[in-house]
Amino acid sequence: MNVLVTGAAGFIGSHFAEKIASLGFKVIGIDNFSEYYSRDLKEKNAGDLESKGIRVIKHDLCDGDFNNLIKEDIHYIFHFAGQPGISAKSTFESYLENNFIATQNLLNFALTQKKLKLFVNLSTSSVYGKFATLAEDEETKPVSDYGVTKLAAEQLVLSRSRSNLLKACSLRLFSVYGPRERPDKLFTKLIDCAINDKNFPLFEGSTSHIRSFTFVGDIIDGILGVIGKEDICDGQIFNIGSENEHTTQEGIDIIEKITGKKIKFDHLPKRPGDQLRTSANIDKARRLLGYDPKTTFYEGLEKQTEWFRKNWVK
Ligand SMILES: NC(=O)c1ccc[n+]([C@@H]2O[C@H](COP(=O)([O-])OP(=O)(O)OC[C@H]3O[C@@H](n4cnc5c(N)ncnc54)[C@H](O)[C@@H]3O)[C@@H](O)[C@H]2O)c1
Repeated sequence: MNVLVTGAAGFIGSHFAEKIASLGFKVIGIDNFSEYYSRDLKEKNAGDLESKGIRVIKHDLCDGDFNNLIKEDIHYIFHFAGQPGISAKSTFESYLENNFIATQNLLNFALTQKKLKLFVNLSTSSVYGKFATLAEDEETKPVSDYGVTKLAAEQLVLSRSRSNLLKACSLRLFSVYGPRERPDKLFTKLIDCAINDKNFPLFEGSTSHIRSFTFVGDIIDGILGVIGKEDICDGQIFNIGSENEHTTQEGIDIIEKITGKKIKFDHLPKRPGDQLRTSANIDKARRLLGYDPKTTFYEGLEKQTEWFRKNWVK
């Protein structure tokens, strides 16, 4: 069976593409290698995939029709591509285009795929807002352009399912970390600062933020849970994350312990749009997808630190 993975050169998409290919699916990746962070890292991820026989097509999903680039009949679409994060350097237009318009173009492609079993949209706990602790059917109150545009994309995808045009679901991921984590994210930055004696930019109040930090391998297992459950998943939203909560300070302490280094900080004002608490309510994913994340925070951070030491590219 053929699987299209968008955002395949990115952090989570590259792990997913590798894993599902190892299960015998033929994977076609697509990515525009956006400049949001180092293209070297994305080229390395794509190179890793290509060495395993996975083709990664360089294409911007905002550029409209791309049916001419894919000759295979696609059975599953996993949509990771987008503008992530809440960086001040990302414009509103970059969120709108890469999260919403790109999703609309991908849906248009999906509607031409006669053998498509399921369109899986990768969403985020940011759609819930400052406190992401709720079940999937509770109110969403995003506080960032990222959260708003991801919610809009989620609803666009589900609207196609409600109109019986295709089967689709949306998975809301919670604070993912692990090998290949984006350089703008907490743990890659902490590990880099510890190992390379750099100062870490610490936003006011952030050490007490509570997060369902979730190891990328556990996220991939959760996503794979939809395969073969198309009728159960159609029209549904699932939270995918760890039920264990940790503060950012606990993460800092663990990185200092693993690296044996004391991290130095630059203190910055509060960052707008930051969530205060995320705590994944995964009852639904447990019940319907058999989801059961297992990696401890310490184990996961050890794996990420080891990856950083061996593979980090700027
Ligand atoms: N990392 C997290 O903690 C986290 C948490 C919740 C949800 N998510 C979601 O998971 C998905 C993947 O996130 P990630 O952390 O791997 O980010 P990432 O930036 O590493 O991966 C996204 C990839 O999409 C590509 N891309 C962006 N716009 C594109 C476009 N218009 N056309 C084609 N490719 C495009 C980028 O080049 C990048 O390689 C995103 O949709 C994000 O919203 C991530």
